[in-house]
Amino acid sequence: MDYGLRDRAVLITGGARGIGFAAAQMFAAEGARVALVDIDQAAAEASAARLVQGGAQAIGLGVDIRSAEQCTAMLQRAEGALGPLGVLVNSAAVLDDKTFLESSPADWKRMVDVCLFGAMNVLHTALPGMVERRFGRVVCMASDSFRLGQARLSYYAAAKAGVVALVKSVAQEVGGAGVTLNIVSPGATNTELRQTREAGMRASMGEEKYARRVKSVLKMYPTGRIGEPADAASAILYLSSASAGWITGQVLSVNGGFTMA
Ligand SMILES: NC(=O)c1ccc[n+]([C@@H]2O[C@H](COP(=O)([O-])OP(=O)(O)OC[C@H]3O[C@@H](n4cnc5c(N)ncnc54)[C@H](O)[C@@H]3O)[C@@H](O)[C@H]2O)c1
Repeated sequence: MDYGLRDRAVLITGGARGIGFAAAQMFAAEGARVALVDIDQAAAEASAARLVQGGAQAIGLGVDIRSAEQCTAMLQRAEGALGPLGVLVNSAAVLDDKTFLESSPADWKRMVDVCLFGAMNVLHTALPGMVERRFGRVVCMASDSFRLGQARLSYYAAAKAGVVALVKSVAQEVGGAGVTLNIVSPGATNTELRQTREAGMRASMGEEKYARRVKSVLKMYPTGRIGEPADAASAILYLSSASAGWITGQVLSVNGGFTMA
């Protein structure tokens, strides 16, 4: 399938690693020009260097998406280097592992600042140019915890539910200008984000209880495995393609059958 991504300028927040970087590799393989944006500047630059070594046009930028000013500078630098933005992927996020009653307002603020307010900053920065040029593809990452709720992830799930509502609403506002916005909503996916949380659980539960947890998690996935970054990245690529112009405001779960609603 030709995704129509050749020479398209693509910006990926949280692109230094995980699902964002897996998507970046696929965009690069399609001939797109890629800006990897991450709060970890060194990691963003190192990941961009990997793409450049593979023959792609790519840059890495250190940006904290919680800052509107940094997002404005991000767009200027990305477009200065790669041309007008055609695709935006918002993958940056943080995670936590606390019950709601264990958590504090500082925990909720950190989560909402990155996962919801950050998404607003990034969309608010990138959309005007897309609307003016009458073309854009935007993909934001949610999590299937927003559909079902999930113990120990309450404020993460709440922030992701906010992103879904944001994307559906803005999709209605800019659809007439040729700009689509969609959500990819992964189930458990094998990235550093998940690995860090799992390592914490393993340490606190002990080996035996943790082994039982791993088994019971796998039972929730009819496909018998958790996801790999490429699983979600493939969906991001499709929703960013030229052919996906009549898909907007949708939530695509990439979850091995974890939820089917
Ligand atoms: N991995 C999973 O199991 C899973 C499940 C459901 C949803 N998701 C979602 O998928 C997306 C990608 O997740 P991942 O597992 O690849 O995560 P990851 O932690 O591997 O990558 C996220 C990146 O975001 C960056 N980041 C964090 N805060 C930032 C900020 N303020 N500004 C800029 N960059 C920032 C991090 O440095 C990191 O490189 C996230 O939105 C996540 O919520 C992941």
